[in-house]
Amino acid sequence: MSEAKIEAWLDEDRAFAPSAEFTAQANAQSSIYEDADADPVAWWRRQADRLTWASEPTTSLEWNLPNATWFADGTLNASVSCVDVHVKEGRGDRVAYHWVGDAEGESRTITYRELLGEVCRTANALIELGVKKGDRVAVYMPMIPEAIFTMLAVVRLGAIHSVVFGGFSAEALASRILDSDCRFVVTADGAFRRGAASPLKPAVDEALKSCPDVSAVLVVQRTHEDVDWVEGRDHWWHDVVDHQSDVHEAQAFPAETTMFIMYTSGTTAKPKGIFHTTAGYLTQVATTYNYVFDVKPETDVCWTAADIGWITGHSYIVYGPLINGVTQIMYEGLPDSGGRDRWWKIISQYQVTILYTAPTTIRTLMKWGHQIPAAFDLTSLRLLGTVGEPINPEAWMWYRMNVGGNRCPIVDTWWQTETGAIICSPLPGISSTKPGAAMRSLPGISVAVVDDSGKEVGNGEGGYLVITAPWPSMTRGIWGDPDRFLETYWSRFPGKYFAGDGAKLDADGDLWLLGRVDDVMNISGHRLSTTEVEHALVGHPAVAEAAVVGASDETTGQAIVAFVTLKLSVGETEQDHARVIEELRAHVANTISPIAKPRQIILTPDLPKTRSGKIMRRLLRDVAENRSLGDVTTLTDPTVVNMIAGLMDTHATSED
Ligand code: WT7
Repeated sequence: MSEAKIEAWLDEDRAFAPSAEFTAQANAQSSIYEDADADPVAWWRRQADRLTWASEPTTSLEWNLPNATWFADGTLNASVSCVDVHVKEGRGDRVAYHWVGDAEGESRTITYRELLGEVCRTANALIELGVKKGDRVAVYMPMIPEAIFTMLAVVRLGAIHSVVFGGFSAEALASRILDSDCRFVVTADGAFRRGAASPLKPAVDEALKSCPDVSAVLVVQRTHEDVDWVEGRDHWWHDVVDHQSDVHEAQAFPAETTMFIMYTSGTTAKPKGIFHTTAGYLTQVATTYNYVFDVKPETDVCWTAADIGWITGHSYIVYGPLINGVTQIMYEGLPDSGGRDRWWKIISQYQVTILYTAPTTIRTLMKWGHQIPAAFDLTSLRLLGTVGEPINPEAWMWYRMNVGGNRCPIVDTWWQTETGAIICSPLPGISSTKPGAAMRSLPGISVAVVDDSGKEVGNGEGGYLVITAPWPSMTRGIWGDPDRFLETYWSRFPGKYFAGDGAKLDADGDLWLLGRVDDVMNISGHRLSTTEVEHALVGHPAVAEAAVVGASDETTGQAIVAFVTLKLSVGETEQDHARVIEELRAHVANTISPIAKPRQIILTPDLPKTRSGKIMRRLLRDVAENRSLGDVTTLTDPTVVNMIAGLMDTHATSED
């Protein structure tokens, strides 16, 4: 579909009706909302039957704000629900993971039976190293199967994993290890990125200089680069794990046993250790995976293209899909490892049916051009998902047309590290979809959009997204900081969970997420979302990616500063750039309003992003306001910032 056609289509403001193919066979039938609404807690209790209980719970929700427990008197073992059950019930030969390496041709297929053996071996090794129930184990690993074996082995022992994304610095790793007092670290010598070895173990060594209580480090040999070794503390995976028995008798633990901690950035500099407990979390990841992706475990090949270092990887590469017993792709590399067509090669080779990824990746793939996916047979795909940030309609349409063949429904899933599992999303076969809308909350979940005073807004109005009743996979708190938990999430609107996101209800009452409320700008008393302006910019044919921040301004309170990456095809001369900047300002004024016209547009070959791929708006605001740059340790490429700062002078346009 050409860009002009997409624009014309969007102008008509149409929704896609539920696809007939899904209506006929969706796991969820339309009465699901009514069933759940009739008694959400009882409905969730029925969903909890997806787990393998050692003793069934007789209680469901106990709610004493902000503390919830779900199914508290039941007992179970998380790894049994994910792995053992499939072997026991005759599904042991089904593939759990097709692991695909960074290098083309490197792959490994792991059946559920093999997965059980690996998890047991790893659990036995962890016991040998001294891991006990309740201990915290830091996991700092590349996207290799051992990362998953480790997570499952840790929870099998009733211990707690804290997976730290492999792209984080030694300092970030150390602060996370210290905050939750991890005594064990599982890592690798290094990782492969586009064929090059990038070290991990040196960062662990550096971090552990300030973490004297870590007693054992288990190291997978992945790159075979030389590493330093601390005798007595460091152990090679192949020395400690390989010889273990592949049998381990799992013990059952209470439903509210803490499973993992996942650090996430808040409004302050110190990341929050969001922790999740066992049965509520597992119930909701399993249920949402089943309904939102309409999975057919016998036939689907599912690919959540995310890193296990983030909540998306925990919930939808590890726990949710495994409980459902599906076959997955686990991909080690980057979208262009081995070439810009790598993703499409993987999809066509493995006949992937369900693809779940982030808008930022979709925009990258879009920037590389639709000709690349067009050269592949992608007809195995039947459902597409997106997560992590608001998706601009152009990227949504590109995804739908060029990846989904205008055939696959797109589920735009809104959730957070704190929510543990998907909260808002269309359901395939039931909901219509609109480019950029998460549509509504899932069965058993209630959300609302409220104004400053906490009053629900009407259709056509915007406000703050809140969750109005407890849900099974809600975080049980911030590790070691209950006060901050209460204050951050439960104090803004009494009795309601404050998500920190802006949202609006459209004329039909469907839900659109507008980005974090800290990114909402106030221009001359008019509220404008940075996302809205970004959508407008990205809607211009010359723009690949855009980030917008509100910079303080003497006359208007805030003024808009836009950082824009142009498509490869745009000319390189100063005149080309000046022309494009003027065009873009006019384009934004035309698309939204003259109020939304950026004061400045800064052209940059790249945008500064966190290692998880989120645009660093805080940093861009600092650049826009000439403040000092502060901590840039989570930038993918810190030089981008300096480069942008340099560009401020050359490409800034004057006031009109
Ligand atoms: C924030 C949570 C959920 C896993 C990955 C991110 C934004 C997430 C959407 C979406 C609009 C979204 C929100 C949210 N977000 N999904 N579909 N549409 N915004 O987890 O790092 O905890 O970030 O991501 O702003 O608050 P996270």
